[in-house]
Amino acid sequence: MAADVEPTSAPPEPAPAGANDAAAPEKAAADDAAKPKNPAAAKPSASKKKKSTTEVAVRLRGVVKKFGSKVAVDDVSLQIRSGQVYGLIGPNGAGKTTTFSMMAGYLRPTNGDIEMLGFAPTHTDQLKSRVGVLPQDALLPPSDKVGEFLVHMARLQSIPAEKAPSIVRAVLEEIEGRDWWNVRCGSLSHGMAKRVQLAQALLGDPEVVLLDEPTSGLDPRSAYDVRQLIKARKGRCTLIVSSHNLQELEEICDAAAILDRGKVVASGSMSELTAASEEVHVKIAPPLRAAGEAPYRRNAAGLPLSKLRELHGVTRVEYDDTRHEIVVHFERGQADAEGIIGQTLWALLNGQVRISGVTKGRGLEKRVMDLTDDPDQD
Ligand SMILES: Nc1ncnc2c1ncn2[C@@H]1O[C@H](COP(=O)(O)OP(=O)(O)O)[C@@H](O)[C@H]1O
Ligand SMILES: [Mg+2]
Repeated sequence: MAADVEPTSAPPEPAPAGANDAAAPEKAAADDAAKPKNPAAAKPSASKKKKSTTEVAVRLRGVVKKFGSKVAVDDVSLQIRSGQVYGLIGPNGAGKTTTFSMMAGYLRPTNGDIEMLGFAPTHTDQLKSRVGVLPQDALLPPSDKVGEFLVHMARLQSIPAEKAPSIVRAVLEEIEGRDWWNVRCGSLSHGMAKRVQLAQALLGDPEVVLLDEPTSGLDPRSAYDVRQLIKARKGRCTLIVSSHNLQELEEICDAAAILDRGKVVASGSMSELTAASEEVHVKIAPPLRAAGEAPYRRNAAGLPLSKLRELHGVTRVEYDDTRHEIVVHFERGQADAEGIIGQTLWALLNGQVRISGVTKGRGLEKRVMDLTDDPDQD
């Protein structure tokens, strides 16, 4: 691969919404880009609009991105299957935006290679209208009306002039912005602007949609709306999403990679990442006390842990007395989470233990905290 063509010192400018088609060629014109990486995906141009049958929609192999001496992305390899909602997770500075920028073709890897639907991201002719991008901090042109802006973006993706308005209306309908055609982008609320940017990324029904922090800075209601829109697209395309909200990613993603300081520290299905098929967590409430009785601090001694250890498939049982939580570890294949939950609750209820919550796995948040460092500790 040739050296980078973009300056290495200045931070990247916020990419305009939809810049994937317009900006990529001069940033990363690649000689090798014209060759499909995966010959199976190199169908004639008639297949451009056809849904891809490539099983792996996005593949990164040993991808490195350096800005001068700063290694922003460090030997990242990922395979993202078609139709998945895939999360890119990690603290600030983990390399998520840089990874998105390379997948979108805005930046070129220093080393390694990327395939989007079987093509290098710089192969814009093949990927035009097949990859939609919502860049982090995307800006809308304030004086453009929403309708004309989206029609313009549709035209940049080679959507024919006669089809563009109906395609834009359909996507505005999808984001529940059907009345916004004549609203100036500059007068949209933050939540509405984010939905218009999302509409831009979804124009023309792309096969791969990259959403870099689609809910950041949104109030809970707007973030909820955006999450519903993402969920509604599930199955229609491959979605790659980054977010700071780990509960959100746990809810919407099928699989994810956790990045820390440019490296993948864990990846897999959401159930693998959260150990949902290996652990059950049961939150314990203190026993009821009569008024005036001293506060009760439960310890493991009062819990029927030995009964839990006898359950079929259980390998280990712990009680965390700061979180008031029993953790039952079990052998995948020997037992399933639902079976373990049933038997655990039965044993606890028989032991007069009050239960305030049950979860499968340790939750994405805890997993990410265990795996990543505090970025402020640099
Ligand atoms: N153009 C650039 N020049 C120098 N350093 C950069 C540039 N872009 C990103 N970085 C650095 O690369 C690292 C990864 O950044 P980024 O991909 O934006 O992380 P994230 O999106 O996970 O917060 C950070 O340390 C950031 O400061
Ligand atoms: Mg970022």
